[in-house]
Order: sequence, then C-alpha cells, then structure tokens
Amino acid sequence: MRNLLPLIGSHPGGRSALTCRYRCGDACFQEIPNTSDNEYAGDIIAGALSRRSMMRAAAVVTVAAAAGTAALAGPAATDAEAAPLAGRPGGKPKPTPSGARGLRFAAVAPNKDDKVTIPDGYGQNVVIRWGEPILRGAPAFDPDKQSAKAQSGQFGYNNDFLSLLPLRGERGRQVMVANHEYTDEILMFRGYDPASPTREQVEIAWAAHGLSVVVVQEENRTGRLAPVNRHPLNRRLTATSEFQVTGPAAGSPLLRTSADRTGRKVLGTLNNCAGGTTPWGTTLHGEENFNQYFANGSSDTDKRYGIGTAATERKWERFDKRFDLAQEPNEAHRFGWVVELDPYDPDSTPRKRTALGRFKHEAAQPRLTADGRPVVYMGDDERFDYFYKFVSSKQMRKGNSRAAREHNLTLLDEGTLYVAKLTGDSPAAEFDGTGKLPSDGEFDGSGVWIPLATGTTSHVPGMTAEEVYVFTRLAGDKVGATKMDRPEDVEPSPRTGRVYVALTNNTDRGKAGKAGADEANPRNANKHGQILELAEHWDDPAGDGFAWRLFLVAGDPEDPATYFSGFPKEGVSPISCPDNVAFDDHGNLWISTDGNQLGSHDGLFGVATQGERRGELRQFLTVPTGAETCGPVIQDRRVLVAVQHPGEVDGASVEKPASTWPDGPGRIVRPSVVAVWRKDGSDIGV
Ligand code: FEO
Ligand code: CA
Ligand code: CA
Repeated sequence: MRNLLPLIGSHPGGRSALTCRYRCGDACFQEIPNTSDNEYAGDIIAGALSRRSMMRAAAVVTVAAAAGTAALAGPAATDAEAAPLAGRPGGKPKPTPSGARGLRFAAVAPNKDDKVTIPDGYGQNVVIRWGEPILRGAPAFDPDKQSAKAQSGQFGYNNDFLSLLPLRGERGRQVMVANHEYTDEILMFRGYDPASPTREQVEIAWAAHGLSVVVVQEENRTGRLAPVNRHPLNRRLTATSEFQVTGPAAGSPLLRTSADRTGRKVLGTLNNCAGGTTPWGTTLHGEENFNQYFANGSSDTDKRYGIGTAATERKWERFDKRFDLAQEPNEAHRFGWVVELDPYDPDSTPRKRTALGRFKHEAAQPRLTADGRPVVYMGDDERFDYFYKFVSSKQMRKGNSRAAREHNLTLLDEGTLYVAKLTGDSPAAEFDGTGKLPSDGEFDGSGVWIPLATGTTSHVPGMTAEEVYVFTRLAGDKVGATKMDRPEDVEPSPRTGRVYVALTNNTDRGKAGKAGADEANPRNANKHGQILELAEHWDDPAGDGFAWRLFLVAGDPEDPATYFSGFPKEGVSPISCPDNVAFDDHGNLWISTDGNQLGSHDGLFGVATQGERRGELRQFLTVPTGAETCGPVIQDRRVLVAVQHPGEVDGASVEKPASTWPDGPGRIVRPSVVAVWRKDGSDIGV
C-alpha cells in the first residue's frame, strides 16, 4: 500500500523546498537550535531519577490512581463493525452508516487532485480568497495591480488558524478571525526577483501578513458562508499595525528599541500559525517562525531561536532597519509571543502576552480550571523543543458586561508558566526507535509541570523572571524539559478535559548526536508524527502532575509502527504529519495535516476519542496541490478549513503555476478559506 503515489517533495517533513524557504526559513536545514543535553523520557527510567522528581513521579502515580486511572485507561476497541478499507487508495468510497456519531461519512480516499475533495453528499464553497476586499475603500483584487494600500484592506495571504465566534443580534452571521502566517512572494508577484525585491513588493508582503477579522453570512438552509464586506467589525492587523506588550516582561530593557524606548509598543505580528479561542470571547495567535524575518543575528540567544547570522530570504532588512539585528538587536525579542485579540472591539489594540513566554508558538488553547482560572496549553514547534502551559492566577468573570470583559482581558498577564517533563513507564530498552509497542501495550507514563516563573519571580536558577519570559527556550533547557517531536497544535477535549498534542514529525530523532527514541517519541527518523493525550488531575488541572499516553502513532495503517489506540487498522484512513487539531461537539478530534509523507495531498481527518470506536480515524477531505490543511473549525452543520499555500511546489511561480485552485486555469492560485456542509441540510457526520 505504500508509495502508490509519487511523493510531493523530498524535504524533511514532506514539504517542498519552497515551503521550507518561505514558511520556516529553511529551519530543517539549519542546525537544531536545542543543543542542550536534557535527558529524554527514557533516561529517567534508566535510573537517572532525582529525589525530587522521584517524589513527584510517585505523587503523580498516586494522583492518577486516585483520579481514576480510568482517566487514561483506554477502552481497547473491539468493535468489529469497522468500515472496511475506509478511504484507502483503490477502495471505493461509499456511504458508511456505521461510525462514531459525527464521523458517519464516506471516507475520502488519498489522492493528488488539484481541488478540495469532500465526501459524497457534501457541498462546499470558497468563503474568502487572498486579496478579497474586506474594509471600506479596499479595491477588488487585481494581482497585476496589487499595492500595499490595497492589500492592507484585503484578506491576507496564507490563511492558517481560523476561529468562528457568535455575533448576537445579526441573524445568520458569525465573526471569523484568520491568521495569515507568511507570504509566498514567488507565487504572488509576476517576475519576482528574490535577490532584489522592490519596496512595493516588501510592503505588500507586510500588509499580507498578520490577522483578519471578517464577519461572514450564512446562506439559508446550506452551510455556505460569504464575507460581509465593510462590516464595522472587519479588521486587518498586519506587520506594521500597533500591538501592546503586556504582562511581567512588558517594559523590560530586553524589549526596548530605538523606536520604542518603553518596551511596550511593537509594530506588527509575524508568522501567526495556529491559535485558540478563549471562553471569554477573544482569540489567541501564536507567533511561530519569527526568526526568519531577522538578519544578522549574533547572540547565543539568537542562535537558540534559530535566527541566522546573514541576510534574510525576503530582504526586509533593506527596507526597515528594525529587521537588521546588527542595528536593532532587541527587535527580535518583540516577536515569538502569543497575541490576544478582542475581535468584538475593532478599536482595541491587540496584546502580546509576555506571561506566556517567548518561543516558536504554534498555538495556544485555553480551558478553565475547576475554580474558573484559564490554563493555556502551548507547543514550541521545533524539532526537540518543548511543551508548555500557563495557569492564570485570576478567575474568569462570566457575562458580557463591560467590567467582565475588561477583567477578562487581564487574565493572561498574571500566573505561572510551566514546561513539561515526561517519564515513560516502560523500560527504556524497549524503545529501539522502530515504534514497536512496549510489552505493557502502551506508550504511556507520567509527567510533571516544572514551574519557570510566576509573575516577577523566577523559578529557574541563574535567570531573572524577565529572562525566563524573553528566553523561555533557555529556561526549558536549564530545568530539563522533555525534547519532543515538534509540538504543534493542542486542544483540550470539551467532553473529558484530556489534552491532545499534535507532534508532527522529527526526521532528526535518533540521528548521531541527537536524542534517540523514548516512550513519548518512539520512532527514530520520525516521518509521520504522533498525537499525545494528556490527563491532568481533573479536579486540579493547575496541579503539577499529569498522566500521558500516545493516542495515535501516524502513518500507513499497514505499517506495523502505527497505532490507533488499538482500533482495528483495516478500518482507519492513512494519516501523516498531524498539525492543527479541533474538537466537534460529539467529542471527536479533527486533525489537519501538513506534509503528508504517504504520497497523498494533505487533508482533514476525524477520529473518535471515547468509547468502543476510540481510534477510528476517517478522512474527511483533501486539499489541492502543494497545500496544507489548516483551520479547522467543526460546527454542527459546517466544517471550515483554511487551504494554506496551494501551489507551493518547487519550481512553481506565477508564470508557471503548480496549482490553479480555486479559480481554474489562467487565474492566479490563491490561499482561501473553504466551508463544507451536508447537502441534505443535516448535521455533519450523523
Ligand atoms: Fe506553522 Fe508549526 O506550523
Ligand atoms: Ca508503557
Ligand atoms: Ca501548524
């Protein structure tokens, strides 16, 4: 079943060289920034357990037992009704009445079609494309007459995270918030010369980054959505908009520049990847591969964050000296944060929340503790980097009063930042890098949250609190956090409170001089990734212990080194490189992929997390050539995905497109948001 289709590209993680260049600044070809000698999960078992961690581990075991090991005691799937060869190449997609509620659709087979392929009986529409006007005065999109001024009133490039929020008082309308992670200049500008970008091109790219707020309108009786142009809530925030810095590191000398001597006012947000939606009605946006925008890095901390020592790919430093660290060494410290936006207040200044630490923030997804305080889970998407959480010291206020909203906008400024350390429960010798299940039948164990800083108090010897927040990766190194296989998006289950972490891949695992396989990261040269399930003590999620196990080990189900929580493998779709995750109201996890290494385009999958069908994974859609599936938002009657970087294939350009999605031959390829719904008007997958 392997290699039925040619691979898209040979780059690590399965993406094209073009993606690596523009999205991550060729991160996979740089040295691994984490050169710390932190032990990995297996070392602990091998006998290197400190007294403190031993006591903690013991406490965790007790907690897990007391909390009901049921919290993580997996129901081994025994259901024999698995859909036969669901969505496998050569298999015939047909309606599957069986399946977990919410996942009863005919699985989409892996394919390489230059379109969005959805299940039989479903409809789709393009909600909004790169360049569509959303603000008053913005012109219609014309790729040959594009200007920075036009772009700053139009939907940005490369939509990633999406959030849909309710809009009371306006029937059939919702507020959509989108991240615009980065720009593909070679696919945006005819005749683009990477050695010599023009000022106008650079300023268009600045305006195409950032965030969009767009009110969308539902069509009667379908799931179709359309943007409401010029709605008063519509907004663009770009690489030059004003952002406020808040929390314990705001005003730090480490954040001051010649243009901002206060260290509290930053122009722009960059490389917003995934994010989160808070229970108090704001959105969170992770600044991820910010390093690639800064030239001439020189410090050790620059190096730990992957900032290069030479010119950048996009050459922005030629047009604004703040991107040249030789001139403005602190400017890069002002990126790599989680941004909080209030989409209901178009005049508000979005905040960069320093209490949540600075790293390559993939996402930030909150939930509330039993006593109403937000806990925000966050991954640092780099090979061998860490998983974090922030626990607020303040309780959320309910209601929509002005006082409640103002209070809730301070929740993410005070609390404790932690990093995760995982310990496997099987002997380290059982992990040889092949992904073989250990003899106890599960990749699982316990973990501790190691506190890094609380407010202005540092818990890391040798670092001030300000240093912990600004150089959080170094703090994680010092306390011995666990090196993970690229922690991407994270999502707590609204049903069970268990937290799901996508670990997308790590082709360097087990290479000479690098950390080898452990129970949480069990495959060397890990091409396909895994999803980790984490259970805090539910009554006290702000506590410092947790239990964990792998929920999925991705790949071709015929590959013995895959694991679907014990569900019969002939009933699941192949999946590779899990990235963004979301829950539906039935408690199913939806997973979008980035960099499929099984020869198909990327896609969106749903998987049951509870009951007899736990682990039954089914593909819902695939995206066009070169694209990654992002977003996703799963509502009762609608699935929303962001189709990011379609056509991003080596050698492609505006003149030589690899994709003509969404508008067909002769039209420029455009990253866009797509809505999918059931043609008969009923709920998704029931
Ligand atoms: Fe922007 Fe980690 O994906
Ligand atoms: Ca085990
Ligand atoms: Ca991502």
